[in-house]
Amino acid sequence: MTFTAQIKNVTFPDIIYNSSGPRCTTPEELEALGNSESSAIMMKSCSPESRNGNPEPRYKEVELGSINSIGLANHGYQKYIEYAAELKQQFPNTPIIASIVGFSQEDFLLLVEAFQNEPSVDMLEVNLSCPNVVGKPQIAYDFEVSDELIAKIFTVPGDKPIGFKLPPYFDPVHTEMMANILKKYPVSFITCINSVGNTLIIDPETERPLIAPKGWLGGLGGDYVKPIALANVRMFYKLLGDRMTIIWCGGIKSGVDVFEHLLAGASLVQLGTVLWKEDVACFARIKREFYEYMEKKWYTDVKEIIGKLKEL
Ligand SMILES: Cc1cc2nc3c(=O)[nH]c(=O)nc-3n(C[C@H](O)[C@H](O)[C@H](O)COP(=O)(O)O)c2cc1C
Repeated sequence: MTFTAQIKNVTFPDIIYNSSGPRCTTPEELEALGNSESSAIMMKSCSPESRNGNPEPRYKEVELGSINSIGLANHGYQKYIEYAAELKQQFPNTPIIASIVGFSQEDFLLLVEAFQNEPSVDMLEVNLSCPNVVGKPQIAYDFEVSDELIAKIFTVPGDKPIGFKLPPYFDPVHTEMMANILKKYPVSFITCINSVGNTLIIDPETERPLIAPKGWLGGLGGDYVKPIALANVRMFYKLLGDRMTIIWCGGIKSGVDVFEHLLAGASLVQLGTVLWKEDVACFARIKREFYEYMEKKWYTDVKEIIGKLKEL
């Protein structure tokens, strides 16, 4: 069976790894990912300075998924450069991915330059879609600002693959607008989707919301978001699948979920809420389930299913 993936010069030994956010902030969490069956180590979105993020409670699990408003708590990019160097020594064959986030164009450019120059980092995921910072809208919902920022990012020297973490789009016109921007630049991949932002979950027993920040609104992950993620993967695959890799994130908790997203057009998949719930053992379980499902259907190579959703 062949379940590897390639993005430019970066080889993934398998197709399932962690999404930025859950259990990838501290050196201990990153090491645990390296020791697990995750096929890459994605680091927490980092900003120029360290951040404490939003006040607690800011993460809650419910039956159908999770709601969070962490607010980009991270140790600052210089620490992630140090962590990446240590991880590369320990796990030389595992791709290490930096996730970067800024609050101005200058921030993004500083971070792209820093990680392009760091030999232990293999790939850069630029987060254009955090819904949980008070007063800061999700960048990728502003097409003009995104276009300008992406253009500037590609003026920074360096040959590491760069991709963008996108928010969910709910109207095909908006998906097309973003695809038309991405087409203009040497984008290696997109990751769909970030949390579905600004949602409210109420506990009827206590008659209170589950999380405190941002007027109790937070980003949804887990089962709730899977059909939204699937639709985004499919729409972007049709628009951009011949030019860049589509990575799915959003609602995976089983091997059959992985199979569905490959059919929709994803080549790699990331785990968020399920990783927070189950810890790193989820990689081996979901991988095993995916292999078994592929075998049951007599497929031997992921290429046989990527984008091959049958017509109705
Ligand atoms: C606690 C938590 C923290 C997150 N932090 C980040 C982050 O720093 N950067 C990012 O790109 N996405 C972040 N996300 C979004 C996830 O990476 C993912 O896109 C989203 O949760 C959907 O995937 P899931 O259904 O597997 O959770 C976070 C999600 C959660 C639950």
